[in-house]
Amino acid sequence: MGYKNIILDEKDGILTITINRPKVLNALNTDTLNELENVVRDIERDKEIMVVIITGSGEKSFVAGADIAEMKSLNIHEGRNMTRLGQCVFQEIENLSRPVIAAVNGYALGGGCELAMACDIRIASEKAKFGQPEVGLGIIPGYGGTQRLPRLIGKGRAKYYIFTTDMITAEEAFNMGLIDKVVPHGKLYEETLKIAEKIISKGPIAVRMAKYAVNNGMNMDLASGIAYEAEAYTTSFGSEDRIEGMSAFLEKRKADFKDE
Ligand code: CAA
Repeated sequence: MGYKNIILDEKDGILTITINRPKVLNALNTDTLNELENVVRDIERDKEIMVVIITGSGEKSFVAGADIAEMKSLNIHEGRNMTRLGQCVFQEIENLSRPVIAAVNGYALGGGCELAMACDIRIASEKAKFGQPEVGLGIIPGYGGTQRLPRLIGKGRAKYYIFTTDMITAEEAFNMGLIDKVVPHGKLYEETLKIAEKIISKGPIAVRMAKYAVNNGMNMDLASGIAYEAEAYTTSFGSEDRIEGMSAFLEKRKADFKDE
């Protein structure tokens, strides 16, 4: 299926999704969110895709937020639909059964920062800048920012950055746990691919169960999370891949995982 605002590139089990509206710094309008939702649903049905990378087109911006020009003319009901659409798409990304890596190539503001936070791992160019500028527009972050930012950097700091709208450099973002790695700008995609390849070389069922255990456990009290981990562990333990992984270790060879 062809898309207007998204470029898809699939190679060796890695699907790269590029948000492609460079004239508006890849701002997310309704069409783009709908396209993203379709792509995410297709990925769930495609057994070949092992890891997903999300990035933005051009040198300057990952995603500069929701599309302000589109938002300006919406009434309150349309505004609610807009926030619900973005929240749903980002939750589908967060819950996708494959790991999703954000390759943040520039501005990740508002909905862009929220998109990156919905991904499992965030790798950023040294030039990337993060922030939640919404209160400067008279709204609050509406694609999960008030919820995911405090979970990543703590309640106090999240409020500081949401209230002041101060931008966060890549180095600061790394130091506060908002992102996981900073790399030279020209090497962002190459470095992200290396991380994707490393994940692909591991047991896919184990990676999937680890993702579920972390994601779902974070929404539970510790005892419930520990119990959930035991179930996810048991699922990985019942896989053929567990026999293969342990045999490969003992036989000093590379494991050949089959996702079974
Ligand atoms: N929506 C629509 N258009 C946008 C946009 C956005 N979020 N961000 C940038 N653009 C457009 C600009 O209007 C401009 O268009 P023209 O060339 O037609 O004037 C073009 O992209 C280039 O932008 P700038 O000229 O502003 O580029 P700059 O280098 O001077 O500044 C920037 C870059 C700091 C990212 C600045 O563009 C900016 O502040 N953008 C808005 C960021 C923002 O407020 N994002 C939050 C949106 S609200 C949101 O996301 C709500 C939510 O949580 C659901």
